[in-house]
Amino acid sequence: MTIDFAALPQDFLWGTATSAYQIEGAVAEDGRAPSIWDTFSHTPGKIDGNDNGDVACDHYHRWREDIALMRRLGTNAYRLSIAWPRVVPGGDGPVNAKGLAFYDELVDGLLEAGITPSVTLYHWDLPQALQDRGGWPERETAEHFAAYASVVAERLGDRVTHWATLNEPLCSAWIGHLEGKMAPGWTDLTAAVRASYHLLLAHGLGAQVIRAAAPNAEVGIVNNLSTIHAATDRPEDEAAARRMDGHTNRWWLDPVHGRGFPADMREHYGVELPEKPGDMETIAAPLDWLGLNYYFPQTVADDPTGPAPRVRTVRRLGVPRTGMDWEIDASGIETLLLRLTEDYGARKLYVTENGSAFPDTVRPDGTVDDPERQDYLVGHLAACASAARKGAPLAGYFAWSLLDNFEWAYGYDKRFGLVHVDYKTQVRTIKGTGHRYADIVRAHRSSARRAA
Ligand code: FCB
Repeated sequence: MTIDFAALPQDFLWGTATSAYQIEGAVAEDGRAPSIWDTFSHTPGKIDGNDNGDVACDHYHRWREDIALMRRLGTNAYRLSIAWPRVVPGGDGPVNAKGLAFYDELVDGLLEAGITPSVTLYHWDLPQALQDRGGWPERETAEHFAAYASVVAERLGDRVTHWATLNEPLCSAWIGHLEGKMAPGWTDLTAAVRASYHLLLAHGLGAQVIRAAAPNAEVGIVNNLSTIHAATDRPEDEAAARRMDGHTNRWWLDPVHGRGFPADMREHYGVELPEKPGDMETIAAPLDWLGLNYYFPQTVADDPTGPAPRVRTVRRLGVPRTGMDWEIDASGIETLLLRLTEDYGARKLYVTENGSAFPDTVRPDGTVDDPERQDYLVGHLAACASAARKGAPLAGYFAWSLLDNFEWAYGYDKRFGLVHVDYKTQVRTIKGTGHRYADIVRAHRSSARRAA
């Protein structure tokens, strides 16, 4: 498998990604208040092993060491998220100076190390105080998000140019409010649809305030998209695949591109949108870039009695899978990058997350050999370069994740890191895939130099 380096721009961003709740720990320190993930993870039975993010990778105290790891990997970008409950612990109201200072120092540390920070404002950790007032199904949450976004952009906007409003609103809305497998753990279609609406409204309002506070900002949104296949060519299954595409992809892409919420899905959900005049224009404000998080394709069949979107995922036999039991199909990332380019006219694209979990062991000599993860990385990078060759304006790739971390409902059992974390000692060890990534980054740099 070779990567067509010449297809990638010379100033390509080679990054790693993390999120606040998954790595920071220090949940009760320096004025941070609980988020919905603290509540959810402390609810017995919600998380495998009853794990929680109380300590996680202790990144709050070890961030200098973690920046040193990024330097060893040779990466020139890092995607992090800001914890809203650190910065505005009550969700709205007073700003917590210590919380803001943490990110201020982190950004300076990254810049000193020659690493471009890419900041995501919301990676699922809603302040619990706002959940207590109704959370994302309520409009006020979107307004409070904009106020919080403005505080952060005013403080960091002189140094941070890469901004994402939301990470994967699909997970917040559908998995959090419809499937109940993520915080806040609801199973209520009306609440889920309302949440999806207010999340996209929050995105639009957030984009406005970031631009106002940081005129040089490049603003985008991060979606997790999937390639969807029908299990058979029966018309019912074809229709199921179209619904799943609507639920997973179009519902999140169409409104921000000025196409409104897809009519077929509105009809399918049968939930009235809490729309006010001007909202659709706010949601559709032009973006500088789109972020794609890609992990796996999905094959679905009709499930007439199931919950919306009334599909059943079908297990394809003989297809390789990761430790998450997710199918491995690198061609999906190429298909999606080209779809964003051709169908949505994307001007700039980043792969904001891509990676794989496999069980790892530290060998007696202290190394971690993870050939399956390496194959996943190289296969997907080759597919990204192929999309770029065919015209996708791909400007960077962020490997998920820098570190093994708290993998939401799966707890610490699932390891996505390029760097292994021993949770007892907090010792970090670069895995084989981390070394491979460093080689890839170096190889691209020298090919870019030769071309220059
Ligand atoms: C994505 C999330 C990220 C991580 C990966 C494996 O859905 O954005 O936080 O959990 O999956």
